[in-house]
Amino acid sequence: MEQKIQKSIEDFSKAINEVTDTQSLEEVRIKFLGRKGLYAQLFEEFKSLPKEEKPKYGKVLNVAKNQAQQKLDEVKKNLESQSSESVSKFDFSLPGRRRSIGTKHILTQTLDEIKSIFVKNGFSVYQGPELESDHYNFESLNFPPDHPARDMQDTFFVTENFVMRTHTSPVQIRLMEKEKPPLRAIMPGKVYRNEAISAKSYCLFHQVEGLYVDTDVTFAELKGTLVDFARQFYGSKVKYRFRSSFFPFTEPSAEVDIWWQPEGKEGRWLEILGCGMVDPNVLKNVNIDSEKYTGYAFGMGVERIAMLKYGIDDIRLFYDNDKRFLDQF
Ligand code: DAH
Repeated sequence: MEQKIQKSIEDFSKAINEVTDTQSLEEVRIKFLGRKGLYAQLFEEFKSLPKEEKPKYGKVLNVAKNQAQQKLDEVKKNLESQSSESVSKFDFSLPGRRRSIGTKHILTQTLDEIKSIFVKNGFSVYQGPELESDHYNFESLNFPPDHPARDMQDTFFVTENFVMRTHTSPVQIRLMEKEKPPLRAIMPGKVYRNEAISAKSYCLFHQVEGLYVDTDVTFAELKGTLVDFARQFYGSKVKYRFRSSFFPFTEPSAEVDIWWQPEGKEGRWLEILGCGMVDPNVLKNVNIDSEKYTGYAFGMGVERIAMLKYGIDDIRLFYDNDKRFLDQF
C-alpha cells in the first residue's frame, strides 16, 4: 500500500507539471481525483486493509490526496488568470483592418473616358479579334502585297496568313461588311508590334479606331469631332495641330499632334492619332457605293494619350504592374 501511495504522488506530480491548458488539467483531475480516479481506488483498497494497518495508511493517503487537490486548484487558478490577462491585453479601441480594394488600371480609366466622350457624340462601340488574317489587317485596307506601307508596321506573324493585328483598322472592315451605312462607331482594343521595347514603344498597346460612313461626310466634320474630343479630354486650352500624312486606307490623311509642355523642360509636339477620309478603294472592298457614300476614320494610341495627360514618360510603366505606379491613379 505504501508503495502505491508513493507512486500516486509521483505520477500526479509528473502529470500536473505537464498541464498546459484547462483541457489537460481536467484530464489530470479525472484521472487522479475523479469519482473513479486513482485516489478513489486507493481509498477502496484502504477499506479492505486489516484494522491494525488502517491508522498508518489512512493519514498518508489523506495527505497525498489533499495535496493533489491543492496543487490542482493552484494550477487551475494560474491558467485562469493567464487567459484573462491575454484578453485584457487586447486593445478593443484599435481600428479594424481595412481591406484594400483594387482600382481600375489607368489604361482602363483612359479607355473609359475616351469611350464616354465618343458615345456622347453618337458613336456606338464595336470590337473585333486580335488575331487577324492578312486579308483584314492589310489587304482590304488597301495595302497591296508589296506595298512599302507594309514595312511601316513590324508585324508578329502567327502563320503565313495570320498576324496579331498591328492596328484596330481591320475592325472597320468587319463592321462595314456586317452593317450598312449610316455607320458611326468606335472600336477599342489591343494591338501588337514586333518592335524593340523602349520607353517609347512596347510590343503591345491599345488603340481606339473611329469610323463614320454616310452620305456627304466631310473632312470638316472629322476635324470638328477630333477637336471636340481633344478639348473634352485635355481641357479647352489644349494646343493641337493637324499635319498632313499618308495612310493606304485614307485619302487625304492627317495626323493630330498635341503640344506637350513638361514643367521646366522644352515643349514639343506629340502625335496622338492618324485620321483621314476613307479611301474609295476601301469602300469598294466592302461593297459600299463610293459614289453615294463617303466616310472618315481615325485611329488613336491610348497609351500615348494617357502619357500626355498624366505626364508619364515611359510606356513600359503601364505593363510593369508596379503598385507604386498604379496607386497614383
Ligand atoms: N491604323 C493606323 C496605325 O495604326 C492609324 C490610323 C490612321 C487609323 C488613319 C485610321 C486612320 O483609321 O484613318 O498607325
